[in-house]
Amino acid sequence: MKHPFLMTPGPSPLAPEVKQALSKDIIHHRTAEFRSILKEVHSGLKYVFQTQNPVLVLSSSGTGAMEAAVANLLSRNDKILVVVGGKFGQRWQEICQSYSLNVVSWEIEWGSSPSVIELENLLDKHSDIKAVFTTLCETSTATVYDIEATAKVCRQRDILLIVDAISGLGSDVLKTDEWGVDVVVAGSQKGLMLPPGLSFISLSPKAQAALETSNFPHYYFDLKKALKSYAKDDTPYTASVSLVIALREALKLIKNEGIEKRWEDFSRIGEALRRALETLGFGIFSRSPSASVTAGEVKSMDASLIIKKMASDFGITIAGGQAELKGKIIRIAHMGYINASDVLTCLAALEEVVQSLGKNIERGKSLKTFQEAYCVQNSN
Ligand SMILES: Cc1ncc(COP(=O)(O)O)c(C=O)c1O
Repeated sequence: MKHPFLMTPGPSPLAPEVKQALSKDIIHHRTAEFRSILKEVHSGLKYVFQTQNPVLVLSSSGTGAMEAAVANLLSRNDKILVVVGGKFGQRWQEICQSYSLNVVSWEIEWGSSPSVIELENLLDKHSDIKAVFTTLCETSTATVYDIEATAKVCRQRDILLIVDAISGLGSDVLKTDEWGVDVVVAGSQKGLMLPPGLSFISLSPKAQAALETSNFPHYYFDLKKALKSYAKDDTPYTASVSLVIALREALKLIKNEGIEKRWEDFSRIGEALRRALETLGFGIFSRSPSASVTAGEVKSMDASLIIKKMASDFGITIAGGQAELKGKIIRIAHMGYINASDVLTCLAALEEVVQSLGKNIERGKSLKTFQEAYCVQNSN
C-alpha cells in the first residue's frame, strides 16, 4: 500500500505528535486554557527564532506574514531594496510593488548568494533606502543567503532588515538577535512540521517603532493590534485554535532535540545528499546550498518524468523547478520531520527511476555515498 511520502519543501510531513494534537476536541480561544497554551507557544517560537523579541502568530500562509511586514513597517513611496534571486525574492518584489513602494530590485544570478560588497555599494548609491527585504533559504533555487553579513551591513546604516525564513526556519542557521535581524517571517508547513495555515513574524524594537510611522491602511493584519493582544497571550481575532495546539507539540519536539543539533543534522543530510545525487548524474544547482532543500540539475534527463515516476512507482512526492527553472531541476527537502532515513528511501527510489529512464546506474552507489558521507560526518 502506498502512503503519502512528502519530500517537498512545503508542505512537509507532519510529526506524529502534531497529528495527535490535531485530532483533539476544539477549545474556546477566549479561555485561560487557550491563553496558557499560547503562552507556551510564544516562548517556544522565541527559542526557534532565537530571539527575545515578540513572535506574532497569524492565521494565513507564509505570504500573509510577508504582506503584513510590508504593510505595517513602511509607507507609500518609501525606498526599499529587494534581493531577487529566485521565485521568493520575486514575491517580496511583487508585494512591495503592489504597495507602491519605491522598489530597488537587486537581481542576482539564481543559485548564488548576494555579495556583501555589492550590497554595500547599492546602499551607498541609494542612501535613502529604509529597508532591505531578503530570504534565508531561497526555496526555488535551494540557496541559503548570508543573513549574518547582511544584518551587519544594515545595522551599520540603521536600515531595517526583513528576512523571509519561511522554508529555512529550523534547518538553516538563523540567529535573529545575535545577528541583529529586525523582522523574520515564517510559516507552519515546513520546518515546524505542521499543516499550512499559520504564519509568524518577529519584530525587533526598531521594527516595533516602525509600526508607529507606517501610513498604509490595515485591518486584519494590523501588527500593532496583534502586539497588544500578544502582550496578554491573546490574539485580536479568533485564533486557529487546533493549529496552535499542534504547534505547541512541534515546538516541544524542537526544543527537546535542540535547535543547534537540528541545524547541524540538516546540514549534514544536505551535504551527503548532494554527493549522492552527483553519483546519479545530477548536477548541484546552488553555489550556496541550503540545509533545508537540495536542487539537483537534471542535465539531459527529463525532470517532469522523474517527478511523475517517483510518485507513480513509489508514492514519493518530490518537487520540480519553478518559473525559469521548470524542467531543469528536481528539489528534495530535508526539513521539519524529514530525516536521514527518509532521504535514503528517496534516493533508493530515485536510483530505480533514473535507471528506468535509461541511465546506467550502479544500484546502491548513491545510497553508499550518502551513508558514508552522512555517517562519517556524524561520527566526527
Ligand atoms: C522562501 C519562501 N517564501 C515564501 C513562500 C510562500 O509561502 P506560502 O506558500 O506559505 O504563502 C514559500 C513557500 O514555498 C517559501 O518557500
